Amino acid sequence: MSNNKKLYIKTYGCQMNVYDSERMAEALGASGYEQVEAPEGADMILLNTCHIREKAAEKIYSELGRYKGIKAENPDLKIGVAGCVAQAEGEEIMRRQPMVDLVVGPQTYHRLPEMMKQVEAGEKALDTDFPLEDKFEHLPDRPLPRRAPSAFLTVQEGCDKFCAFCVVPYTRGAEVSRPPERILREARELVERGVKEINLLGQNVNAYNGGDWTLAQLIWALNDVDGLERIRFTTSHPNDMTDDLIAAHGECDKLMPYLHLPVQSGSDKVLKGMNRQHTAEHYIRLIERIRAARPDILISGDFIVGFPGEEDTDFDATMDLVREVNYGQAYSFKYSARPGTPAAERSFVSVEVANARLQQLQALLTQQQRALQEAMVGQEVDVLFEKKGRLAGQMIGKSQHLHAVHVAGPDLQAGDIRRVRVVKSETNSLGGELL
Ligand code: 5AD
Ligand code: SF4
Repeated sequence: MSNNKKLYIKTYGCQMNVYDSERMAEALGASGYEQVEAPEGADMILLNTCHIREKAAEKIYSELGRYKGIKAENPDLKIGVAGCVAQAEGEEIMRRQPMVDLVVGPQTYHRLPEMMKQVEAGEKALDTDFPLEDKFEHLPDRPLPRRAPSAFLTVQEGCDKFCAFCVVPYTRGAEVSRPPERILREARELVERGVKEINLLGQNVNAYNGGDWTLAQLIWALNDVDGLERIRFTTSHPNDMTDDLIAAHGECDKLMPYLHLPVQSGSDKVLKGMNRQHTAEHYIRLIERIRAARPDILISGDFIVGFPGEEDTDFDATMDLVREVNYGQAYSFKYSARPGTPAAERSFVSVEVANARLQQLQALLTQQQRALQEAMVGQEVDVLFEKKGRLAGQMIGKSQHLHAVHVAGPDLQAGDIRRVRVVKSETNSLGGELL
């Protein structure tokens, strides 16, 4: 039995939150907290929250309500709220749910060890600053043994684009890029711990600007890290797809043929209302150039339907764009008004119309995704194996195109990269045979 205190972290939202949760666990690890898989029996529960869509805060309050029983059994239990809801709601969280001991925003979690001392002394702790210091410089090196061969690495945070629907510029703040030498050091630390694939993260990752380094330069430097086999990056904005980044997709052998490039809408009128600063045509030409550099690249996207002012013809334009691009993967959402954003002031499309459009769009996107998966059958892919599958002796991993692939491979280890022939396409994965 260790004397460590038990920390349960529940993560909501995007991959950047997944990364932040890891770093928070590491920061608290240095103060004697050990991460556990369930809230029961924990000494500290930390919710790392997302504010991107509707009812985010309400969901957190109802989740907190569920911990009443655990708190009754263990009055010493400490409860914290981190992430973007913490940033947006601040003190209000403790007012509405007095059980909460700690509230910390996404830019101050390096101060968690200090905050925990306060909390352990029975005080409340709140920090939603946008501090001058760089939180990453105040976090411990990546100390935990890694179980997963694929890791996230945040290189850029925040957003200066101010899309009319989006809370990120308010919750995560202005665009900040981490210095390239720090990123390379962290990447080497991860590789020493067995990581084979690094996914570079940023709300606007391709706007990365680290002391004059572009994202493409960073990717080329990572390409030289021995032991690192695969590089990915997400999420990008069409207006920051620079020539060097497009070229890297054709020339950099560790950069995987997958690009998440949200367009949100195919209507120029809606794009303008969203303040996206580009047209549908611009996006389509961009995809053509990317495909010219890397013909087999899988394109992924995000869409919003029912944005204020979206008419049938605008939605038709979105459907046309989707047909033209042919997505291998995509996420689509019904517009939800976020308090404080410009679009929240405008008149809405009715829920019925938005629902119908969402259904239609998702049907098309699913059809495209399935067709692309079907086309993989018979092809050979390289799979980075990550974990055991549901069946005995089965292992699951990811192809270069980020398809989940399962094979029978009792001798495979997490971290192995092996050539596989795809033999079948299932709903959300491919079945394969080791070659
Ligand atoms: N309503 C619906 N979807 C949204 N997204 C961001 N803000 C909103 C909103 N207010 C979607 C966008 C973005 C993805 C992360 O979430 O498609 O690319
Ligand atoms: Fe959610 Fe966006 Fe914050 Fe990520 S950055 S947690 S998606 S609001």
